[in-house]
Amino acid sequence: MGGDAVIHIEHLSKSYESEKGAKTYVLDNVSLDIPRGEFHVFRGWSGCGKSTLLNVIAGFVPKSGGRVTVNGRDIEGPGRERGVVFQNADAAIFPWNTVWKNVEYGLRIKGTPKAERDAIVRRCIKIVGLETHENKYPDELSGGMKQRVQIARSIANDSEILIMDEPFGALDAQTRRLMQKEVVGIWKETGKTILFVTHDIQEAVSLGQKVSIMSRSPNATIIETIEIGVPYPRKINNAQVADFIQRIQGFFDVEYEI
Ligand SMILES: Nc1ncnc2c1ncn2[C@@H]1O[C@H](COP(=O)(O)OP(=O)(O)O)[C@@H](O)[C@H]1O
Ligand SMILES: [Mg+2]
Repeated sequence: MGGDAVIHIEHLSKSYESEKGAKTYVLDNVSLDIPRGEFHVFRGWSGCGKSTLLNVIAGFVPKSGGRVTVNGRDIEGPGRERGVVFQNADAAIFPWNTVWKNVEYGLRIKGTPKAERDAIVRRCIKIVGLETHENKYPDELSGGMKQRVQIARSIANDSEILIMDEPFGALDAQTRRLMQKEVVGIWKETGKTILFVTHDIQEAVSLGQKVSIMSRSPNATIIETIEIGVPYPRKINNAQVADFIQRIQGFFDVEYEI
């Protein structure tokens, strides 16, 4: 595949205007290149603009300045090549559809023929380990299972980029570790580019090939991008992993001035 940037962010800024017309820059001068197939994690203070950044890349929110391209094209809105997994699965999957139908949804819209559709849905449900639950409705599923439905749907849609905004934030510790393993597995199996936001430093270091550290808003930016050169699967008690956790923690123990 090579090292071509699938996502290119150059001097990106995003401001919101108050009712009185005062502008606040949430993001200011964010620049980043994400190579194809990279697992890239963003870690920052609560309210620093992580979701805003992902929403600009997803095409849900227009930027105020700078440039963001996906595969060399300026973003004009959401696109099929960018699948989004939200923190709150309840808001993202249809309660009136079974697991199977939820995963199948995008393929139906696309008009994928039934035989092909069935094969894809079966494969994606298997990847996230929901084979025995495919006929259940969301209200029969745990939070972790609903998140898997979202993830399976993104994979079924075959979006080359997965944008995940604190997807495991609401899960208990055990389910969370399980899901972390699964996401690394999916990433290895599919070679997708993953953008993943978390406020959990252990999670960041367990998952990311790179971790971008964001400063506080207003005028938040990426302070540093750290390459986590530790092979997978990563154990948090591994000395190298522990060092990275400590190093990243260091950014958040002190007020950071840039
Ligand atoms: N639609 C909006 N209008 C005005 N301010 C917003 C809007 N969306 C987000 N913000 C503000 O932008 C800042 C960053 O929000 P967000 O991107 O959700 O942060 P994070 O995901 O890092 O917690 C916050 O101060 C938030 O209040
Ligand atoms: Mg957020």
